[in-house]
Amino acid sequence: MLKPLLNRMNNYSSSRLFRKIAGVSVVVLSASIAMAQTKGGDAKMDAFVNGLMSKMTLDEKIGQLNLVTSGRPLTGTTVNKGTEEGIKKGAIGGVFGLYGVEYVKAAQDAAVKNSRLHIPLIFGLDVIHGHRTIFPIPLGMSATWDMSLIEQSAHIAATEATGEGLNWVFSPMVDIARDPRWGRISEGSGEDPWLGSQIAMAMVHGYQGKSMKNADAVMACVKHFALYGGAEAGREYNTVDMSLIKMYQDYLPPYKAAVDAGAGSFMSSFNTINGVPATGNQWLLTDLLRKQWGFKGFVVSDYTAVNELSAHGLGDLQAVSALSLKAGLDMDMVGEGFLSTLKKSLKEGKVTQQEIDLACKRVLEAKYKLGLFDNPYKSINADVEAKSELTDANRKASRETAEHSFVLLKNKGQLLPLKKTGTIALIGPLANNHSEMLGTWVVAGEPSKSVSVIDGIKNVAGSDVKVLYAKGSNFTDDSLLNARAWFFGMKQERDNRPAQEMIDEAVETAKKADIIVAVVGESANMTGESSSRSDITIPETQKELLKALVKTGKPIVAVLFNGRPLALPWEDKNLDAILDVWMPGTEAGNAIADVLFGNYNPAGKITATFPRSVGQIPIYYAHKNTGRPFDGKGPAKFKSDYIDISNDPLYPFGYGLSYTTFNYSDVKLSKTDLKGNETLKATVTVTNSGKLAGEEVVQLYVSDPVASISRSVKELKNFKKISLQPGESKEVSFNITTADLKFFNTKLAYDWEPGEFGIQIGTNSSDVKSAKVNWTK
Ligand code: BGC
Repeated sequence: MLKPLLNRMNNYSSSRLFRKIAGVSVVVLSASIAMAQTKGGDAKMDAFVNGLMSKMTLDEKIGQLNLVTSGRPLTGTTVNKGTEEGIKKGAIGGVFGLYGVEYVKAAQDAAVKNSRLHIPLIFGLDVIHGHRTIFPIPLGMSATWDMSLIEQSAHIAATEATGEGLNWVFSPMVDIARDPRWGRISEGSGEDPWLGSQIAMAMVHGYQGKSMKNADAVMACVKHFALYGGAEAGREYNTVDMSLIKMYQDYLPPYKAAVDAGAGSFMSSFNTINGVPATGNQWLLTDLLRKQWGFKGFVVSDYTAVNELSAHGLGDLQAVSALSLKAGLDMDMVGEGFLSTLKKSLKEGKVTQQEIDLACKRVLEAKYKLGLFDNPYKSINADVEAKSELTDANRKASRETAEHSFVLLKNKGQLLPLKKTGTIALIGPLANNHSEMLGTWVVAGEPSKSVSVIDGIKNVAGSDVKVLYAKGSNFTDDSLLNARAWFFGMKQERDNRPAQEMIDEAVETAKKADIIVAVVGESANMTGESSSRSDITIPETQKELLKALVKTGKPIVAVLFNGRPLALPWEDKNLDAILDVWMPGTEAGNAIADVLFGNYNPAGKITATFPRSVGQIPIYYAHKNTGRPFDGKGPAKFKSDYIDISNDPLYPFGYGLSYTTFNYSDVKLSKTDLKGNETLKATVTVTNSGKLAGEEVVQLYVSDPVASISRSVKELKNFKKISLQPGESKEVSFNITTADLKFFNTKLAYDWEPGEFGIQIGTNSSDVKSAKVNWTK
């Protein structure tokens, strides 16, 4: 789209342009303001931005609120037109979807050289789990429970993204999700607000670094504010309606944590919240975000979300644009409702000059914080672009993160790790494939640069392992799923042979091998945005393949690709081992082979509960007790349960096996009666009782059985990841304070109430050792 811009591009070097801007700054920035910028400080920023705004026309101010896309339509059907002219007119504040030094420079030139006030653009992109070097999908990344790996992945993404001229990423996605039908559960960190908050902070720190002015830092955009993951029935873009207590206790904490971590921007969500769509929700965008939480950055709408308020039933484009601005929205993504209606609304008294000024100020402040007024070309540097991408170090980090994200769901008879001898039958639609390794939400990652599973196995296994391959099946033969999952003309790599012929070939291949490794599950296109599923099992075609393979009687390991918890009761019962690898990223095959052959002993733990069946959804560990809890024993009638399935999940939150085993001692407490602000120390001894070295995520949960409201049966409050040699024991201690006892009460006050508390420490949310304390005020 910006090709025409390129053609007209002058060949100024970045440094020459910078001098030119400094020259222009005599007009735009007074010398004292320019000096003040380098010293930093809000007063200086204020003076600078106010000075600039005093020179801006109304149209130019509204222009700053306009975010356009010039890429292909990734997540909607609209693409803006006339970008170059818009930039020159000062009618565009930012561009997203454009990356690569050449393109970004052309657009920035149009703004800083050819617009009246030379205001730089901000350049955004959906950098979700890596930019060029792709890391595991966020749900996988969260299963590492490793904040330094997560922060590192964001930092590497920032380094690569800034290398291509970007300064703003639409990440982290911190929506809590407890419904695996929702395709976007893959983009978040699962069901838990405490863990989600830790990850939100790590991501913001990774992206923004110590200062957003640094050349390798980008501004984070926390999304989707708010509660997008609470969509009814897990259906994409659906209504959200929930109690305030649930909202504050379970869904809002990660957004708040991102504010506390200094996130520079937020994105409003598509959904309604208790009747009022987020994008036009004053309570959400102003009262909560700014007044209660003290957020100082700017809020951008999601893609055409302002326009969509009309479909929500809130009025025509002029009305909903005015409503959003008044609610506290600062920037309008793609829809151009602000651009086309705010001037009229001002004339008609439907918005005020102050409201427009405030939004404009926030956008300009973001540019200031990024250092763009000092140097609009700070991250537009061809040398950096060439050096920063897909480096060996970045690939190594991606491989390590992927290995840490894998979760061993089953390992009967210690079938894994595999021996580095013998014959493996590698079967399945994901076994010899590049296009699916990166997962959902990959804008700049190149599938051809990824490592396929077959190549990874060949790289790692050594010459004593013979690998036989058969595809065995396509992803699915369901015509609706096929038509809807692969959108905008995307092509699935399909094998056109009849399903049975492919299965027969796979079975023949399996018969010649010692062991079957079946690489099955979801395609990247079956998860992510606009990919809700009502059936969260492995598609039927692949299931038929697995059934046929099981019948050969050969030991069978499933390497499972998935962007959501799947319902796997059949697989759990019939397969020998299951390694969940999510969607692992650029180094997929190498990481998978490292774990299959035991070069790395898996330690990932799931961060979203795996149900037995879609009928149990929503299912999450921090549920309420109810008045008629069913503990699985005794008569079930008139208890809170189902008559056709157990209440238990297939795999609980925090679950994941290792090639070794860990024993937990009972919980030792420093005290059992505490008062006021005392600190409780809870300790367990964890012993590696197996034969291999391994890592374990030791999890701390707290329960509050008597309170003024009915509380969750337990809540995660901390964890420690330890590593143990065979036979080694370690004491693991947690300090617990009253901060860990607090909750939102009926007045939405965040406080704790005296009484009994349960302290539970264990290997997952179901398998814990428990102790009790009494804590008075
Ligand atoms: C998605 C956002 C994304 C935006 C821009 C929307 O459809 O909901 O997550 O950042 O598109 O691509």
